[in-house]
Amino acid sequence: MSAALSIKSAIEFYDFHPPVDDFKAEVLQGLQQQQKAISAKFLYDKRGAELFDAICTLDEYYLTRTEIDILQTYGNEIAALVKDGVLIEFGSGSSQKVRFILDATMPNLPTYVALDISKQHLYESCTNLVEAYPELQAIAICTDYTQPIRLPDIYSIKHKRKVAFFPGSSIGNLEPSEVVQFLKNTAMLLEPNGSLLIGVDLKKSKEILEPAYDDPQGISAAFALNLLVRINRELGADFDLDKFCYRAFYNAIGRIEMYIVSLETQVVHIDGMEIPFQQGETLRTEHSYKYSVDEFQNLADLAGFQPQRVWTDPKQLFSLHYLQLPN
Ligand code: AVI
Repeated sequence: MSAALSIKSAIEFYDFHPPVDDFKAEVLQGLQQQQKAISAKFLYDKRGAELFDAICTLDEYYLTRTEIDILQTYGNEIAALVKDGVLIEFGSGSSQKVRFILDATMPNLPTYVALDISKQHLYESCTNLVEAYPELQAIAICTDYTQPIRLPDIYSIKHKRKVAFFPGSSIGNLEPSEVVQFLKNTAMLLEPNGSLLIGVDLKKSKEILEPAYDDPQGISAAFALNLLVRINRELGADFDLDKFCYRAFYNAIGRIEMYIVSLETQVVHIDGMEIPFQQGETLRTEHSYKYSVDEFQNLADLAGFQPQRVWTDPKQLFSLHYLQLPN
C-alpha cells in the first residue's frame, strides 16, 4: 500500500489512493437491471452532501439529534471507554459528532484517526478539529473504509487499544449480508481487544419513519432527485425532472426503501443508450435498515464482536452500541 505522507500542524495525512468509482459504468449497469437501482454512494456530490446536511436538521429526521443527545448524555461513560486509546472514525465527514466524545475525554484525549474517501472533506474537517482541540494528535487517512483496510505502521497508534466510531446509522445503508462482512473487516482493523462504537437506528412505527425519509418540505425528495441532476450534468443524460417523483416507504421486513418513480412511459438517453421507463416504474436509490437491539447484536456476534453496552434515548428511537473484540 503506497502512501503519500505530509505533515501540517498536528495532522498526519495519508493518501491510500482509493479507487475512483466508474460513475458512468455503474449508472448504465444499474439502469439496465430489472429493478433499476443506482448505488447510494453516488447521491453525495457537492449538492447532495449539502442536501443531506439539510436532512439532518429536519424535525422529521430524528436520527442526528437523537444520536447527539445520547452522546451528550452518556459522554462520561463513553469517554472512559475510549480515553488513552486510538479513536478511529469511519466516514468522518464534518467530524461534528466526535467532538462530544472528545469534550468528555478532556484532558485525556485519545489519538484521533479520521477515515474518509473524500480528500478535501477529510483535510478540512481535520484542520477544523485540530484548531478546536490544539492538543489533539490527528491522523487523516484518505481511504475507502467499506473495503478491507489497514492502518499505517506508526508508533502513535501501534500497541494501543483501538476503538472505531461509526455514527449516523450509516451501517443501515448496507444490506444485512454486507454488514457482517463489513464488521469482520472492522474486526481485522481493530485487532484483538479493540472495540466498536456504532450508531444504529431502531425499528419503530412507520408513522415516525416515513416522514423522516419523505418530509413535507421536500428535502428528502430533492436529495434523491439530485441524482438525476448529477447524471444529466456529468454523463450528458436527458432526464426531465418534471417527469419523475420520489417515494419512500417502510417495508415491514425492517427497512425504508427509497425510489425515484417515473410519472409516465418515457425513454431517457445516456451516452447514446436508450433507457426505457414504464409509467410508475421505480429506480431504487437507497435502503435504510432498522434493527432492534437484539437483531444488531446478533449480526455483531456473527462477526466476532461481543456486545458490552448499548445506550438508547428515552423514546427508544436510536441506539449506540459498544461492541468488544475478545483478547
Ligand atoms: C446516511 N444514511 C444513514 C441516511 C439514512 O438515514 O439512511 C441516508 C438518508 N437518505 C435519505 N435520508 C437519509
